[in-house]
Amino acid sequence: LTSERYGVQRLPFSHVSDSDLAFFEHLIPGRVITDPDELRLFNVDWLQSVRGCSTMLLRPRTAAEVSEILRYCNKRNLAVNPQGGNTGLVGGSVPVFDEIILSTALMNQVISFNSVSGILVCQAGCILENLNTYLEELDFIMPLDLGAKGSCHIGGNVATNAGGLRLLRYGSLRGTVLGLEVVLADGSILNCLASLRKDNTGYDLKQLFIGSEGTLGVITAVSILCPRKPKSVNLAFLGCQSFSQVLGTFTTCKGMLGEILSAYEFMDDKCMKLVESHLKLSKPVTGSPFYILIETSGSNSAHDEEKLNNFLEHVMASGLVTDGTVATEDKKIKILWSLRERITEALTHDGCVYKYDISLPVERLYDLVIDTRARLGKTAKNVVGYGHLGDGNLHLNITAESYSHSLLNAIEPFVYKWTAQYNGSISAEHGLGFKKKHYIQYSKPQEAVLLMQQVKAMLDPKGILNPYKTLPASS
Ligand code: FAD
Ligand code: MLT
Ligand code: ZN
Repeated sequence: LTSERYGVQRLPFSHVSDSDLAFFEHLIPGRVITDPDELRLFNVDWLQSVRGCSTMLLRPRTAAEVSEILRYCNKRNLAVNPQGGNTGLVGGSVPVFDEIILSTALMNQVISFNSVSGILVCQAGCILENLNTYLEELDFIMPLDLGAKGSCHIGGNVATNAGGLRLLRYGSLRGTVLGLEVVLADGSILNCLASLRKDNTGYDLKQLFIGSEGTLGVITAVSILCPRKPKSVNLAFLGCQSFSQVLGTFTTCKGMLGEILSAYEFMDDKCMKLVESHLKLSKPVTGSPFYILIETSGSNSAHDEEKLNNFLEHVMASGLVTDGTVATEDKKIKILWSLRERITEALTHDGCVYKYDISLPVERLYDLVIDTRARLGKTAKNVVGYGHLGDGNLHLNITAESYSHSLLNAIEPFVYKWTAQYNGSISAEHGLGFKKKHYIQYSKPQEAVLLMQQVKAMLDPKGILNPYKTLPASS
């Protein structure tokens, strides 16, 4: 084990010993993984960009077991890396050195669902797509949806405050999560698993853990408000000749579709080309520099279709949109959505990916792509832009044949400085993790960073939970 990786020094945590192994095997027999081959997958992130060298993965089933694990690790000064589906995109989900990986994979039980209130209570390791399938049978859906739904866990979603494709309609997890059960670094169990829409008794502690990326506690259960399954869903895939037409279509769409609008996503032609060439998917509309996906969800298909048709007639007649297609059946809707959802996957086939996830005033969103493209010229293979336009969230991605330090230096801090000048956020939804923690000051004042470090020190004085992540070390 090297004492330095990625220019980071290993902190003086204990190393896992034989007696530690014996303790864990006794606590969760058969659920301690030490086989290097099995561990390989859990040591590397989804983008294959950060690789740890953990020698132990633990799979508890209950909060009580997580509590025993953390109580022991805290006493022994053993570092712990909480891990859900390992789909995180900022290197936060894998160890940097030999941190013990604490996986929520076996904490996958639904605890309760109330079909009057729509409140679901479940363990943190439930896979998002499985929860959605479970709810659909009861005529409900999860309030979030993202391309990683088949692997990501609800606990990981909450720990990253994941946004996704329907935030525009159902809001952020900061609103839909009603309660959490969290195990703190010293092993104590914080039961704030309320199932109430309204609760103003003291500070709202659950908010501290939403988006804390495994640095403040291990989320073991989630209470979440779920909407009814819409009776009618329509999806329009449209082509626009300029970004200002994408914006014009958005404002028109908010005015004309209003309460039934459930997603407004955009992608440039360059990322559509990558989806076509690397994944062999074909788009239904061609010849436009920009494409948009507009989803409506409502309770009356005749009403929704009439509204959507009026809107489409209007944007076509006014020249905002030049071409398009509409899907109403499930199968076609899924095919169209995959053109957007699988961009992330297509990019990984294009080479080394430099991934940026930025919040900006919506009218500035694409300027960053144009300026980055101009700055990098031929040193980059592709510079593409897509994202959750309805939320002011741009995904700027740059690909190159292989990793290059000089290319990284040309991108960073340029992208962060560019974002800061418009008071944007350098992480709209993926978090800071391992890769972006040193850039937090571009989006947060020093006083806020200091307070975050104080909160971390109070909840996890030995710093055993997900070290090297999210916050720069306090001076
Ligand atoms: P992991 O990757 O395992 O972990 C992520 C972070 O959370 C780590 O810091 C980890 O330590 C911590 N963590 C995990 N579980 C817990 C827990 N129980 N308690 C405490 N900490 C925990 N993100 C979006 O926001 N919007 C998108 O649209 C989106 N689309 C994606 C599409 C693809 C194809 C991929 C690969 C990723 C996408 N992501 C998106 C990023 C990622 O899926 C989300 O961040 C997701 O919420 C992570 O969940 P996970 O279970 O995989 O967590
Ligand atoms: C998305 O919106 O597709 C995700 O956040 C993943 C990505 O940024 O590639
Ligand atoms: Zn996204």
